[in-house]
Amino acid sequence: MTSNCCFYVFLLIGTRVICDSLEDHVSGTGVRCPLGYFPCGNITKCLPQQLHCNGEDDCGNQADEENCEDNNGWSLQFDKHYTKDKYNKLKSLYAFQKKTPECLAGDVPSECTCQGLEIFCDAAKLRAVPSVSSNITVMSLQRNLLRKLSADVFKKYQDLKNLYLQNNKIRAVSERAFKGLYNLTKLYLSNNKITSLEPFVFADLHRLEWLIIENNRINRIYPLTFYGLKSLILLEMMNNSLARLPDKPLCQYMPRLNWLDLEGNHIHHVRNATFISCSTLTVLVMRRNKISSLNENSFSSLQMLDELDLGSNKIESLPPYIFKDLKELSQLNLSYNPIKKVQIDQFDFLIKLKSLSLEGIEIANIQRRMFRPLRNLSHIYFKKFQYCGYAPHVRSCKPNTDGISSLENLLASIIQRVFVWVVSAITCFGNIFVICMRPYIRSENKLHAISIMSLCCADCLMGIYLFVIGAFDLKYRGEYNKHAQLWMDSIHCQLVGSLAILSTEVSVLLLTYLTLEKYICIVYPFRCLKPRKCRTISILVLIWIIGFAVAFIPLSNKEFFRNYYGTNGVCFPLHSEQSESSGSQIYSVVIFLGVNLAAFIIIVFSYGSMFYSVHQTAIMATEIRNHIKKEMILAKRFFFIVFTDALCWIPIFILKLLSLLQVEIPGTITSWVVIFILPINSALNPLLYTLTTRPFKEMIHQVWYNYRQRRSKRGKGSQKIYGPSFIWVEMWPMHEITPKVTKPVLCTDSSDASVTTQSTRLNSYT
Ligand SMILES: *[C@@H]1O[C@H](CO)[C@@H](O)[C@H](O)[C@H]1NC(C)=O
Ligand SMILES: *[C@@H]1O[C@H](CO)[C@@H](O)[C@H](O)[C@H]1NC(C)=O
Ligand SMILES: *[C@@H]1O[C@H](CO)[C@@H](O)[C@H](O)[C@H]1NC(C)=O
Ligand SMILES: *[C@@H]1O[C@H](CO)[C@@H](O)[C@H](O)[C@H]1NC(C)=O
Ligand SMILES: *[C@@H]1O[C@H](CO)[C@@H](O)[C@H](O)[C@H]1NC(C)=O
Ligand SMILES: *[C@@H]1O[C@H](CO)[C@@H](O)[C@H](O)[C@H]1NC(C)=O
Ligand SMILES: *[C@@H]1O[C@H](CO)[C@@H](O)[C@H](O)[C@H]1NC(C)=O
Repeated sequence: MTSNCCFYVFLLIGTRVICDSLEDHVSGTGVRCPLGYFPCGNITKCLPQQLHCNGEDDCGNQADEENCEDNNGWSLQFDKHYTKDKYNKLKSLYAFQKKTPECLAGDVPSECTCQGLEIFCDAAKLRAVPSVSSNITVMSLQRNLLRKLSADVFKKYQDLKNLYLQNNKIRAVSERAFKGLYNLTKLYLSNNKITSLEPFVFADLHRLEWLIIENNRINRIYPLTFYGLKSLILLEMMNNSLARLPDKPLCQYMPRLNWLDLEGNHIHHVRNATFISCSTLTVLVMRRNKISSLNENSFSSLQMLDELDLGSNKIESLPPYIFKDLKELSQLNLSYNPIKKVQIDQFDFLIKLKSLSLEGIEIANIQRRMFRPLRNLSHIYFKKFQYCGYAPHVRSCKPNTDGISSLENLLASIIQRVFVWVVSAITCFGNIFVICMRPYIRSENKLHAISIMSLCCADCLMGIYLFVIGAFDLKYRGEYNKHAQLWMDSIHCQLVGSLAILSTEVSVLLLTYLTLEKYICIVYPFRCLKPRKCRTISILVLIWIIGFAVAFIPLSNKEFFRNYYGTNGVCFPLHSEQSESSGSQIYSVVIFLGVNLAAFIIIVFSYGSMFYSVHQTAIMATEIRNHIKKEMILAKRFFFIVFTDALCWIPIFILKLLSLLQVEIPGTITSWVVIFILPINSALNPLLYTLTTRPFKEMIHQVWYNYRQRRSKRGKGSQKIYGPSFIWVEMWPMHEITPKVTKPVLCTDSSDASVTTQSTRLNSYT
């Protein structure tokens, strides 16, 4: 009856899926290129997104291999203004030139080298600025032991163009330290310990173009700190401790500022007035700050801005019109902000945007409309690969897989696509077979048979779950990204996921119940009562009720659990992501690391003590050799039961623990767990609990014997040969049974605790 039921569910879902998939292929869109496709330059060919930048000329005109690297924003700007790579450039600036012109600067200290009018005193253990000829143009004092820059130290070097002071121990910079450096164009102060910059400290540096103060400890700057920097183009203040920017306009005294890097500071607010006069700014990097509030007008004067990087801040909401004046912006990075909501028209004004990073942002209300105005967008970065379906015109969308699914397929790997069917078939047919065969196995213990049937039903659900996943994979083949989000939000996914959980939970609880029953019988023989029908049935019903409750509670409260099952394409709630709702996190931990771990420990412990108990009695017995053999067989069987359980559950426990410890778990692992590890128990339970047991083998023998009898047309009384010896000794493989063990042992107080009675008692409840 149950088997029929399983079959119908199975068939129904199957036909439904196939019908759906037939319907689906008819739909199409009227856009120039279909969704998920991009045009090949000026020819009418369209190619799927995944052929973009795959190293092959798929278009025929190389259009699909253009624009591969996302080098919009500052790298492009730097190319324009300076050189290819910022850091290469900085390095090459420090490098000695190959040709060494003679020293034109007169005497130099012995620890310094001199080329033309350039002096290099790097790593010379200097504690003070050396005194050299005043007509030098370059002075490099890198990796020395300078502690402070006192007033007028450089005053006599009026021709100085580049001054390198990186990697010293400078803590204090006098207000007059850079006095008289009228010709200085580049000043490097990186990797020092400077804590503050006084007002007017750069007052004489009218020609300064680059000011590099990375990796210091500057915690405040004054409005007048930058006074006098009339020519400044690049200001680099990465990795300092700035908590706030001056209330006054930052660029008031730096009218030519082009590039401002404030990455890795502690800035909380960007005020209305902060960037008000920075109209020439093209690159603004504020990554890794603590910005939590932005004003609608924060960036309104930055009309030339080309790159804006606000990644890794604490922005929770974006003012609706914050980007309205950024008409030139080509790269915007908002990644890793706790943004709660993105307005539908948030990006409408960014008509020139080429690269948009929204990594780590959950966009609950994601819509195609958000990205449609961004016609020139060529690179987009999301938190989830399924968001890519909402920006189908963007050539390069990342990530293109979550490890489980890819843009094309629900199951990314071909092995998984094949094996989901194989494992599903094995699980379904193994269990259905057992369900169908059980009634023909004559057993004395009907209650035990009911438990096993129940277990098979639960395990069969796992097969159905995999079947449905396989079917939907088939349905969405090749175009999964169009449907990904809808699929994960769909009721189908929720139901399929709860089916999987129902199956695992009922299976786990039943195994625990069966184990405990055996255990009590073996270890406490006095309490081994014949299980009453009523009690067994009620326990089974209770187990199913608990299973249903565990599986369906998450569907009851959308607020608390959000999308409990729909976190990945296979709808299985392993929840390795930290950002999921804490409700589902806790629930999932309680189920997997609470209930299931406890059940697993009970099973391991019970089999351990059962084996120990049997082993102890064996030692006392006389016929040792015979019993050792039996014991080995018993041990093997116990080992297999515990081993398959361990194989199935230990990886899941470890994954769960790791995710609790905030270790990022690749989606690939989740999908392998769901397809190969989780169904292990379901697929092997029929084998362990029915197909390899003695009654089953006897039944097969019986059938075979009857068949032979009939063929040889001999008498029919043959059944008697097997009849009397037919006993409920499931644990014992056929050939090992000794004729002695034929008397069904009732639960008596057997004081002569021989192995035979022990094991028979054990077996009577297997
Ligand atoms: C496409 O553009 C290229 C130059 O960018 C031009 O040589 C070619 O003729 C154009 N093809 C068509 C079909 O317009
Ligand atoms: C630089 O000054 C030194 C003396 O301080 C002098 O010997 C040298 O000729 C000067 N070089 C030039 C190019 O003026
Ligand atoms: C340095 O600046 C002064 C005036 O600001 C100017 O007279 C002098 O020529 C400059 N020196 C160089 C080498 O540019
Ligand atoms: C800034 O600090 C971060 C982390 O503290 C470090 O990874 C990075 O290399 C630093 N940047 C520079 C230019 O030193
Ligand atoms: C910023 O500007 C907005 C509107 O222009 C104004 O309402 C707000 O009070 C300003 N905030 C500050 C701190 O000046
Ligand atoms: C955006 O910023 C994040 C860190 O905040 C960084 O990991 C990512 O690479 C950036 N994206 C681009 C395209 O630069
Ligand atoms: C998109 O970019 C092309 C050139 O790259 C430019 O000609 C066109 O105006 C841009 N479109 C918009 C809407 O800015």
